Amino acid sequence: MTKINIAIDGVSSSGKSTMAKDLAKTIGYIYIDSGAMYRAVTLYCLQNNLINDDNTIDEEKLREQLPNIQIAFELNAETGKPDTYLNGQNVEAEIRGMEVSSLVSPVSAIGFVRKEMVKQQQAMSLKKGVVMDGRDIGTVVFPNAELKIFVTASPELRAKRRVDELRMRGNNDITYEEVLENIKYRDHHDKNRKESPLRKADDAIELDNSTINIEQQLQWAIDMYHKTIGEKNG
Ligand code: DC
Repeated sequence: MTKINIAIDGVSSSGKSTMAKDLAKTIGYIYIDSGAMYRAVTLYCLQNNLINDDNTIDEEKLREQLPNIQIAFELNAETGKPDTYLNGQNVEAEIRGMEVSSLVSPVSAIGFVRKEMVKQQQAMSLKKGVVMDGRDIGTVVFPNAELKIFVTASPELRAKRRVDELRMRGNNDITYEEVLENIKYRDHHDKNRKESPLRKADDAIELDNSTINIEQQLQWAIDMYHKTIGEKNG
């Protein structure tokens, strides 16, 4: 059976992780959430006092301690989704909170952090059969991926979806306005940073999912996968 790597990039909270997860499950591929890796590094910084008072990162200490940061994924049998582990601890809940969300952009903009994460992401995908989502998957991690998808939706719609998700997890403290502000800030930061800014790869297919639901989005991705495999098999 021909196996390919699938790169799914897009703006924050665009539903790309849901698409990537569902697609991987349907076609029997491994799902890798590259954003979770940057979030885990951010949590490590918080836990080890590597955040300065002005919310900048102590890059010197982080560079020294980077070899101490082990990130792994393990399938959670209950949810059917992979959980993120930081140095052996399940940190899935912590890395999704607002504290990590508000500091992850500067951490993910650090060149040596990106270099190490990209190296690990490529090593996890050597055998193909991987669906990975993030910001630089089609441009940097898998520049030769057979299928590249770029997902977009308006900031307001993404904020609404994120608030619904946080509420479902029982988090009622955060307002829609705070989430919207965080999404706009991250869009700006992700698109304008020096290291691997978020951009659509020239050969990526763009999907604006503002007017479709999760099932329709999944069906669209499955169709793209079959089309790509069909073309590959000639
Ligand atoms: O997809 P996410 O919101 O969980 O990603 C968290 C942050 O990590 C986001 O601000 C952008 C950054 N990120 C990145 O720079 N490169 C990736 N491949 C994935 C995420």
